[in-house]
Amino acid sequence: MNSTTSLYGIFGNPVGHSLSPVMHNSAFSAVGYNGTYLAFKVIDIGTAVNGIRALGIKGVSVTIPHKVSVIDFLDDVDEQARRIGAVNTVINRDGVLKGYNSDGLGAVKALTEKTVVRDRDVVILGAGGSARAVGFGVISEGARVTIVNRTVEKGERLARELGAEFHPLSDIKKIDAPILINTTSVGMSPHANEIPVKEEMLDMGMVIMDIVYNPVKTRLLKTAEAMGCETIDGVAMLVYQGAFQFELWTGMKAPIDVMKKAVYGEL
Ligand code: ATR
Repeated sequence: MNSTTSLYGIFGNPVGHSLSPVMHNSAFSAVGYNGTYLAFKVIDIGTAVNGIRALGIKGVSVTIPHKVSVIDFLDDVDEQARRIGAVNTVINRDGVLKGYNSDGLGAVKALTEKTVVRDRDVVILGAGGSARAVGFGVISEGARVTIVNRTVEKGERLARELGAEFHPLSDIKKIDAPILINTTSVGMSPHANEIPVKEEMLDMGMVIMDIVYNPVKTRLLKTAEAMGCETIDGVAMLVYQGAFQFELWTGMKAPIDVMKKAVYGEL
């Protein structure tokens, strides 16, 4: 680090367990980019965004609970992020702050690396912020989406906004779609023995993706693997959404393997 080091960071609360600093710092050093990335525990997002301007921070990642509220403080918001209604990436171009959302793009990249989504049915479990981003992402890739959620009203609302179908979780006997994505927190440590859908709902040959990355092999993924499904873990989406940020900020190609290794090393 010296007087020309570019500063980046993540704004969230809590951020103490974020894997983004390790992922981005390892990427910066792998390509020889003079940048550093820190975790900022942010309580007041408006003041923090002014801090980007005041200090000349080059870019930030935004996470829970600020992904929606940050929008009010930016100068511009990319079309896809506006549609999703949430920003997880900010770039500072000569004092003009523009917001993007790389979650949907990350999910699509993780998925299309393993399978085709165009004109295929995708079931998304959950109807929160992650489901929104993933839903808009896969729909823009030409997938047909069905939202499955525990709370009916929330699921119906998201399905309506996406132009997708909706089924309550309690109604699902067998999932009649080749691709299933879990966006709920079910199965996340310390509840790693939980699974968001019953085993009998899965079928051999399906592609099962989990956005939970802690543990890397969730019970859902272990079950799916044992049944002969293709599986995609949460690290893939985390790394690909981070790669989009890296490329936006530096204009360089993201060192995907380095980023993956850094994240797996932490888990
Ligand atoms: P995120 O922003 O990460 O998507 P969120 O907005 O809190 O988080 O959404 C969490 C999603 O996981 C919701 O769809 C939630 O279902 P409800 O709408 O019924 O609350 C789902 N979820 C969380 N815990 C769950 C559980 N134990 N069983 C089923 N669904 C669960």
